[in-house]
Amino acid sequence: MRIGNVRLATNLLLSPIAGYCDVSFRLVARGCGGVGLACTDLLCPEGVLRENKRSMELAATCPEDAPLCMQLYGANIERLCEAARWAQDKGAAIIDINMGCPVDKITKKDGGSALLCNLPNTLRLAEQVVRAVPGTPVTAKMRLGWDDGRIVAPQLAAALEEVGIAAVTVHGRTTEMRFSGAVRLEGIAAVVAAVKQIPVIGNGDIHTPEDARKMIQYTGCAGVMIGRAALSAPWLFRDTHSFLTTGALPPPLTIEEKCALVRRHFYNLINFRNQRVAVCEFRKRISWYAKQMNPCRVLRDAMRLINDAHDFDRALETFLEWRLEHDRRSAAGLIDNSVAEPIELAA
Ligand SMILES: Cc1cc2nc3c(=O)[nH]c(=O)nc-3n(C[C@H](O)[C@H](O)[C@H](O)COP(=O)(O)O)c2cc1C
Repeated sequence: MRIGNVRLATNLLLSPIAGYCDVSFRLVARGCGGVGLACTDLLCPEGVLRENKRSMELAATCPEDAPLCMQLYGANIERLCEAARWAQDKGAAIIDINMGCPVDKITKKDGGSALLCNLPNTLRLAEQVVRAVPGTPVTAKMRLGWDDGRIVAPQLAAALEEVGIAAVTVHGRTTEMRFSGAVRLEGIAAVVAAVKQIPVIGNGDIHTPEDARKMIQYTGCAGVMIGRAALSAPWLFRDTHSFLTTGALPPPLTIEEKCALVRRHFYNLINFRNQRVAVCEFRKRISWYAKQMNPCRVLRDAMRLINDAHDFDRALETFLEWRLEHDRRSAAGLIDNSVAEPIELAA
């Protein structure tokens, strides 16, 4: 798949998820394989132009974190253009304009999905950003529209293509839906039908390789973007790429491999931020990984109590030892798996 002059190794993209998809996590997902493009979380133009600490943490990257899309939000054309030039200077392969964020803090300042409500302005803005960064493709990530009475994605995507936008990502919900209700594949299909040749990337509720195939087959989209499911299973891109290209799934990750990923993420956080951030982050982050590591109550409980990298390593090692023993006993029929985990642990 190509976005403008950028060739992607796969048609699978990692979503921006504010507070989650920083360089530390992107490297974990990329390391598993299958990620064609990853994106920064949404960046505030004023923040990056002032190079304030929080924005620099959000925009942090490294050579292995490529190709990288940097996402900007806002409605001030001049600021967005300056910030796009800043992102281009910092090595962004692609620059994305956020047209889908439903959060009040963003939409009240006319950014995010408020851009779906004033199409002439949005087109002017997109055209200027495209002109500001010659040679770097500019994309837009949108929802279907603000609400059911104002579905604009097909019309907007077609007009964005005319002003030089190189690809659009469509989350198949309206702003009003936030994250509830089913993703509307027919809404994404309507965007695919509306554009001439730019790739349309479908997004929303992809949890399995089969979900990705269904979205591609139903809508005709050129690629898919995966968000929340990747937080628990960063290997989902690897699995999905294999499934889409060969029809087969690779062998599932062992519990040792999953622990190694969790460890890599923790130490990435120490490298790119610091130990305190890694500890705080993992106290909440472990519950995402835990969804794919059951039974793992032991791990979740121990992670809540960590204070430093030493505690983290011990918690992970203790869990792995317990878990391998649990699996051995389970295979030997010595554990009644219908019994809740803490009871088995106490036995
Ligand atoms: C907590 C959270 C933060 C998000 N932050 C962003 C963001 O910074 N930029 C953006 O374009 N979308 C953001 N999204 C939307 C996701 O990129 C994605 O469109 C949405 O979660 C649907 O995809 P999924 O079902 O695969 O998660 C966010 C979603 C969540 C749940």
